[in-house]
Amino acid sequence: FKAMKASSNDSGLMVYDPGFMNTAVAQSKITFIDGDEGILHYRGYPIEELAEKSSFLEVSYLLLYGDLPTKEQFAEFNSEVMNHTFLHRSLTDLMSAFNYDAHPMGMFISGVSALSTFTPDANPSLQGTDLYDNKGNMDKQIIRILGKMPTLAALSYRNRIGRPINNPQSHLSYTGNFLYMLDRLSEHSYQPNPKLARALDILFILHADHELNCSTAAMRHIGSSRVDPYSAIAGAAAALYGPLHGGANEAVLRMLEDIGTVENIPRFLAKVKTREKKLMGFGHRIYKNHDPRAAIIRRTAYEVFEVCGRESLIDVAVALEDAARRDSYFVERKLYPNVDFYSGLIYKAMGFPTDFFPVLFAIPRVAGWLAHWKEAHSTPGGKIWRPRQIYTGSARRAYLPIEART
Ligand code: ACO
Repeated sequence: FKAMKASSNDSGLMVYDPGFMNTAVAQSKITFIDGDEGILHYRGYPIEELAEKSSFLEVSYLLLYGDLPTKEQFAEFNSEVMNHTFLHRSLTDLMSAFNYDAHPMGMFISGVSALSTFTPDANPSLQGTDLYDNKGNMDKQIIRILGKMPTLAALSYRNRIGRPINNPQSHLSYTGNFLYMLDRLSEHSYQPNPKLARALDILFILHADHELNCSTAAMRHIGSSRVDPYSAIAGAAAALYGPLHGGANEAVLRMLEDIGTVENIPRFLAKVKTREKKLMGFGHRIYKNHDPRAAIIRRTAYEVFEVCGRESLIDVAVALEDAARRDSYFVERKLYPNVDFYSGLIYKAMGFPTDFFPVLFAIPRVAGWLAHWKEAHSTPGGKIWRPRQIYTGSARRAYLPIEART
């Protein structure tokens, strides 16, 4: 690879690529996507197989360390993560200061950012460059973060309903414990329904990584300045919050509620074609055939309905997908359901409030962000990310005192 500008006489080669449509900014061994064929692999394993046979924590290990763990490795990893689920009392106090109607994603982002102040050993400016030279310290931060994310997320939910957090239960599974912490009744006898815990685990596996999407690129970008991983995750989570990215699951449900019935679909699609509306949960920068995660989520939705009752908006969603498949406007633009299209229906059936959906995306994506952070900082020669721009503003102008301006 040639440096962009090798000397002061060299104008270099500058590529203008708004939105990074055609720019690769990193080499990675973590996730493979073939957008034309609808293929997604984590570390070489097809997503379908992982969703069927694996668990979220095992997948997190795979993303972070490159291989599936042995039984002993998994037992140690699981126990380490589940024993780092508690939050400092001051952080729970801080979280309780938010208004009851604060958006849970805003609380989550603030909470992750605040976590950095509790962990000076993660701060390279306090520790020199030790953090990045010391794999043990990096792993310590990874375990802490994976352990604390569900607790922080649960706190943002519990604050909403004006209840204190249910203390984490390290003997439960990752998603079982999460459901326990959310439980409205705070009854210690509460046992998470294993089918719902498994459904959430599948959703967590599907959301764990997706190579250089907007939020993961943000994680790498922010991390390239060598800030602590908590601050970088807060930035990545902010990128995820937007409705064109992880906030789409919330926007899809609001759209389906807005459409209301199958009969209203043609009118809605007409508005999409005149660009008055956007078909949320459709379209993808990379997938131009189908998103393999959407099919798994659609199947999982029916399994959840068996436990929680059928969510009637599924009929609108399925009819909308069928109508778009038969419409040349969407076929020509290769617009198909993405990961966010059906997930909200599962979350709704399980009783999660609509504005909590992006948080449910953020918790598992943290595993992918950390895997990219670890890979970036374990690769020699990593540089600070600093893209170029093409300046289109004014040429040099003389400064006029305010009295002389007209
Ligand atoms: N509804 C209607 N039209 C769409 C949609 C949509 N959801 N997505 C793309 N299009 C149209 C565009 O208007 C454009 O049409 P044109 O060529 O006539 O101008 C064409 O399809 C290409 O779209 P782009 O916006 O150029 O595609 P891009 O790759 O930049 O955007 C994105 C991808 C942001 C995902 C887009 O499809 C979108 O906004 N989808 C809805 C939001 C969403 O579901 N986001 C979640 C994505 S998955 C994830 O991040 C987890």
